[in-house]
Amino acid sequence: MPLHCIQNLIGEHRAVEKVLGELEGLIDDFLTTQEIPAGSLAALDRIAEFLSRDLVLHIQKEDDGLFPALGRFMPAQLGPLAVMRGEHEQITESFRGLLEGLTHLKCCSTTDSAGAGEVRDHGRILIQVLRSHLFKEEHVLFPFAESRLSPEDDRQILQKLEEFTADFSRAASAHPHA
Ligand SMILES: [Fe+2]
Ligand SMILES: [Fe+2]
Repeated sequence: MPLHCIQNLIGEHRAVEKVLGELEGLIDDFLTTQEIPAGSLAALDRIAEFLSRDLVLHIQKEDDGLFPALGRFMPAQLGPLAVMRGEHEQITESFRGLLEGLTHLKCCSTTDSAGAGEVRDHGRILIQVLRSHLFKEEHVLFPFAESRLSPEDDRQILQKLEEFTADFSRAASAHPHA
């Protein structure tokens, strides 16, 4: 049965994929240019901002909203749920590496700088891990969720997702540069 909470998460996947495509294009440019154009730095900043906000919130929605409900039907410590949580950690780690690289890149914005190397290496890992992660969720975990969860589960999960979004927005407006 199609679930609203799953449709909500899939919609977010499409937004993440679009940003990954942009990131990939920017990283590829590092291979063909010496100086990084100011426009690319601004675009990387916008991507970093999107990931800090939308990707971090998306992961929280799954870890604390959807996965606990699925824990009634499969073990939490092994199998698909554990793999997905492990990949969330890997994604978060590469994303942090990318952010750090971006900070270094702003000090020395040539494509052969250490910062450019960090952005490229962490960015590539992030793109690769995240694309395969989204594919697995949409082809394995989400269909499983739709085969087991009830309309009442859907309602409760959706409510949690909305609460996470509201909390996240409140925290972001209290600490706009955090
Ligand atoms: Fe995920
Ligand atoms: Fe996801």
